[in-house]
Amino acid sequence: MKLTDRYILSLDQGTTSSRAILFNHQGQVLSKAQKDISQIYPQPGWVEHDPIEIWTSQASVATEAITKANIAIDQVAAIGIANQRETTVMWDRQTGLPLYNAIVWQDRRTSAYCDDLKAKGYFNTINSKTGLVIDAYFSASKIKWIFDNIEGVREKADRGGVCFGTVDAWLIWKMTNGAKHCTDITNASRTMLYNIHDQTWDDELLRLFDIPQSILPEVKSNSEIFGTTSGKIFSASIPIAAAAGDQHAALFGQLCLEKGMAKTTYGTGCFLVMNTGKTPIKSKNELLTTIAWKIKEETIFALEGSVFIGGAAVQWLRDGLKIIDHAGETERLAMDLPDNGGVYFVPALTGLGAPYWDQEARGAFFGISRGTTAAHFSRAALESITYQVYDVLKAMEKDSGQKTKGLKVDGGATENNFLMQFQTDILNCIVTRPRFLETPALGAAFMAGLAIGYWKDTSELEVLVEEGTVFTPNMDSDKVIKYLKYWHQAVQRSRSWL
Ligand code: G3P
Repeated sequence: MKLTDRYILSLDQGTTSSRAILFNHQGQVLSKAQKDISQIYPQPGWVEHDPIEIWTSQASVATEAITKANIAIDQVAAIGIANQRETTVMWDRQTGLPLYNAIVWQDRRTSAYCDDLKAKGYFNTINSKTGLVIDAYFSASKIKWIFDNIEGVREKADRGGVCFGTVDAWLIWKMTNGAKHCTDITNASRTMLYNIHDQTWDDELLRLFDIPQSILPEVKSNSEIFGTTSGKIFSASIPIAAAAGDQHAALFGQLCLEKGMAKTTYGTGCFLVMNTGKTPIKSKNELLTTIAWKIKEETIFALEGSVFIGGAAVQWLRDGLKIIDHAGETERLAMDLPDNGGVYFVPALTGLGAPYWDQEARGAFFGISRGTTAAHFSRAALESITYQVYDVLKAMEKDSGQKTKGLKVDGGATENNFLMQFQTDILNCIVTRPRFLETPALGAAFMAGLAIGYWKDTSELEVLVEEGTVFTPNMDSDKVIKYLKYWHQAVQRSRSWL
């Protein structure tokens, strides 16, 4: 069978679900499967996942996608992985069993430790090496917490018996039945232990966090063979030919291949990422410098603004407050209101990310009156997503010195037309939503396909991505100014709450 008659299996392990999508050579979806994963909240501000559930859900959706497509497993030419970043898994090198739950990127248990590092003046050292700000978001302080709090882990590590990995590394380990302990450069760049300039694990940072080198995975590029699936796991040896953090994969899947091109993914959080080309740009506006991807020895850098609560604000209305049954309801509820009724929501449920980086901020509604209804709460949640993206985009424009002409968007929440129209109005720029929204999975498939020669180069990919809906701004500028003024007042009042 010709290589191009086979398929690429993309695994997208996200914060709330594990997904698998099979793509053909035309970039079309043959089948997909999805399974939600449990969110564990042991204490306020703590968020964990069960690593075994991450793996079993991912393996089962992979099998389901193959079964649904009615193809034989050896028709899968390669696997690509896109994953939630920063989430920290530690496991026993001998048994392959987790030593603790995965500490999720949203988890705030190490905030005080991170504040202490800032107070001791480590910002410049860490920022200049990693491109990151000091925050509990990244993996380093989570690894340290496990060493300091879970009995026996440090002693085991001293004997070389512990592996650390972000979710990509954990999945690769499981898929290869423990034969490969490796990660990719984009996931490594989110640990706060990786020097993005030298492209090595940084000894000084490892000493600072008291983390032994022996637990770290080997770092690979985004598009190369990481290993092959073990026959014990899948009944065939399939090359794992790509891995990338989901936001980096989405940038690639949106074909933001030129310097200056940017996308925002509206998932659990919102992640605005701009391709800045071969040179890392140091942010003066609280953004992150990160590796966009490395393919065939060429490293491309990006600026990123990470907003912690995006679509999760709507999930919280549904699962926490229980004032809606389905996320999709918010579109109609918001559209039926003439305006927001003066209600604003600051979704600092896990602190505030870019450009505020306030670990002590907490969520708040403002402007509630007797006339406030569930519709106002819903609309305020949707509006809050757009204001946060506005704040990050303005910071990005200052850093890059460029005014944004248009923004590419993706992720589940972009199906909400109220959200998209309000976003374009607040930004006063065109917002383009592609026809296919699962761009992290698409990007990982592209990277895997390039690694095995399924697609020759990126020029072959250009014809595979279809443009979808274009939203154009249509709001009175006085109204935009008013909305933003109240939003910024609300943010100020929710800051430094703890
Ligand atoms: O940095 C965290 C991010 O990678 C999570 O993405 O899509 O799971 O919300 P998502």
